[in-house]
Amino acid sequence: MSQFLPEAIQSILPNLIQIVYLIATGFFIVGIKRLGSPATARSGNQLASFGMLMGVAITLFDQEIISFEFIVAGVIIGGLIGVIAAKKVQMTAMPEMVAIFNGFGGGASALVAWGEFARVEPALIPTDGLITTGLSILIGSITFTGSFIAFGKLKGFIGGGRIALPGQNIINLVLTFIAFGLVGWFAFDPEYQVVFWSLFGLALLIGVFTVLPIGGADMPVVISLLNSYSGIAASMAGFVLGNNLLIISGALVGAAGLILTNVMCKAMNRSLLNVLFSSFGGGDDTTGTDTDTDKSVQKTFADDVAIQCSYASRVVIVPGYGLAVAQAQHILKEVGDLLEEKGVEISYGIHPVAGRMPGHMNVLLAEADVPYDQLYDMDQINPQFKSTDVVLIIGANDVVNPAAKTSQGSPIYGMPILNVDEAKRTIVFKRSLSPGYAGIDNDLFYSDKNQMFFGDAKKSLQELSRAIQELD
Ligand code: TAP
Repeated sequence: MSQFLPEAIQSILPNLIQIVYLIATGFFIVGIKRLGSPATARSGNQLASFGMLMGVAITLFDQEIISFEFIVAGVIIGGLIGVIAAKKVQMTAMPEMVAIFNGFGGGASALVAWGEFARVEPALIPTDGLITTGLSILIGSITFTGSFIAFGKLKGFIGGGRIALPGQNIINLVLTFIAFGLVGWFAFDPEYQVVFWSLFGLALLIGVFTVLPIGGADMPVVISLLNSYSGIAASMAGFVLGNNLLIISGALVGAAGLILTNVMCKAMNRSLLNVLFSSFGGGDDTTGTDTDTDKSVQKTFADDVAIQCSYASRVVIVPGYGLAVAQAQHILKEVGDLLEEKGVEISYGIHPVAGRMPGHMNVLLAEADVPYDQLYDMDQINPQFKSTDVVLIIGANDVVNPAAKTSQGSPIYGMPILNVDEAKRTIVFKRSLSPGYAGIDNDLFYSDKNQMFFGDAKKSLQELSRAIQELD
């Protein structure tokens, strides 16, 4: 495309391209920074998308581009698929969508490396170029198959439990060593095609073998890790192409994915090794059976909850995964607004791993236009429970389970939780006494200070909204 430009611009084009790449990188960095708060996340996303558009557009002017028509077609088709997928996806299916996107990202990086290797005479590629080509194939292919296995587990196409050969961890370790050996061999002797294809095939297999043994319940952490891998693969592909924008944006994704993985592990009080090499929970929990217990709970109904909340001075709402399942965010906001009109102070307490992906609850509540200044992180809200009259726990379970503080043998022992038990009254909205993601009973349900409002969260909140309005 550059041949259509005036000669003066053509002479400075290489420098111009690098400057535009640098500006696009700036958009990515500022975009990621703004994702740090719900108030700025939307504009952060838009800035990063604009940076991406700049990157694609300026690439059209790169002398090395063979056919810009393909790029334009790719942008249109890919953009369309992205828009449709993002509009159609349910909030509860977001982790599956991210898994697929990671898989495509990793696969694309591997294909770019393969394409570049096929295009250039192997003897002309310097050793560092061959190493990054090999690493891009290795990490990109692992990400590709690993992500699709993660998707299958989340969707229930593949069993959620541990699916493993005897000694699977050792097998995986040995295969990984062999794969790195193949990268070295490939860099040493790129003409020998068998090495290249063995590396490709082995990497695809490692992706399957690494994710298959991990329990379905741990998939969100695995997806975050694979997200980081897809970034590293892209960065490697950037080295292969000599494209600074790809190197930097890949590194940003790689680092962000690793930080997120770390945050999730910390919030669950588990190490990454524990997530990768042991099974936890049994898969999705939403259809779990009732806990077999002799302990009794106090039941409550909409009219009673309406009275308790309307005469409270402070109500804290704790959302959890069940809110997303019930799609009850809009009616929850309506209840919050009705109580505010009655002079009740309303806040939302958000646990870092409430739901099934980082920021799940923030996104859900933002979608319902809950004001950002009513959203409180765990560390901010915990000191406030002592002075709270009523806590409404909507489809949350593990994140308010006191076993995390008291029961040493519990799988969630040590996980920081929302200290709702310090409030004067708690009311749990859920359908049954079924356990949550961790698969364990919750003593909060049986506490004297707690009441259970059984039913689908959306339906219960609709009844509550009606009851509050009838009090007027
Ligand atoms: P959970 O502990 O999973 O509890 C969710 C509860 O929602 C269930 O007990 C379920 O009870 C209830 N529920 C489901 N559908 C409902 C509906 N339609 N209406 C009302 N209630 C409904 O959720 P949580 O408290 O948000 O905790 C999150 C868990 O996920 C933690 O253990 C966390 O470690 C894990 N996890 C989170 C992440 C991230 S990053 N968010 C990543 C990995 C793991 P019923 O069936 O009785 O209704």
